[in-house]
Amino acid sequence: PALQKAADLFARARHAVAFTGAGFSTPSGIPDFRSQSTGLWTRFDPMQVASLSAFRQRPEAFFNWLRPLVSAVSAAQPNPAHQALAELEKRGLLRAVITQNIDRLHQKAGSQTVIEVHGSLNQWDCPSCRAAFTADEALGSFLPDGPPPRCPRCDVRLKPGIVLYEEMLPPKAWQAAESACRRADLVLIAGTSLEVAPASYLPSYALENRARLILVNLSPTPLDPQADVCLPMDVAQALPAVVERIQ
Ligand code: OAD
Ligand code: ZN
Repeated sequence: PALQKAADLFARARHAVAFTGAGFSTPSGIPDFRSQSTGLWTRFDPMQVASLSAFRQRPEAFFNWLRPLVSAVSAAQPNPAHQALAELEKRGLLRAVITQNIDRLHQKAGSQTVIEVHGSLNQWDCPSCRAAFTADEALGSFLPDGPPPRCPRCDVRLKPGIVLYEEMLPPKAWQAAESACRRADLVLIAGTSLEVAPASYLPSYALENRARLILVNLSPTPLDPQADVCLPMDVAQALPAVVERIQ
């Protein structure tokens, strides 16, 4: 009945948006941050490894943390949850995917309107000359165990185009995400603990306008009490099951 109710909400929505987090990609083999025992932040202190100051002052710790993540992301393929969102968009039932993920799997699955509020591992930037490189251009022999990528012109270490702790969110992506949420009459939140601000504020722009809320997450979140439908399920099972039930 909960799956059918979610399907009915999609069928009736005129401006549905999705908001996804790391739990969306765990079925693709990429670890999330806060799941008990498997989450990256159970083993690492984010400020020590994933901050701008770590990148600048402790590059060894930074790139030792990043390397397995780059490796997992390079090997990952979209899962049925990513495919379900691409299918919803194709059927005109989803306007945008707002994601905190840096793995490009929504795009790989065929989603067209993807707003990356935490950047992506596909872009690498030179902090000195500002040149931008794709992962293919930048990574060289970084995987499996080569040195961190450097700018061919400046020879300084390239920074991955992901939002680090102590950094601002990219303003264009933020504005696009905010306006998509303000227009939304239905929000699907999936695979995010909603613990990281300011990204976690985005759904509230939709809820202020009385948007309906579908929440799919294995563990409880602060917005569970506000959800019209709460599915404590694996996204890779829940989302195809919802799409299947849309008339
Ligand atoms: P979290 O690790 O905080 O939350 C992931 C949530 O997904 C958890 O609540 C899990 O219970 C749930 N989950 C895991 N696998 C799932 C599955 N297969 N199906 C359903 N739910 C599942 O990840 P995010 O909320 O994305 O920021 O984290 C937000 C930000 O914190 C990240 O973007 C990153 C991190 O620090 C930056 O790097 C700036
Ligand atoms: Zn440079």
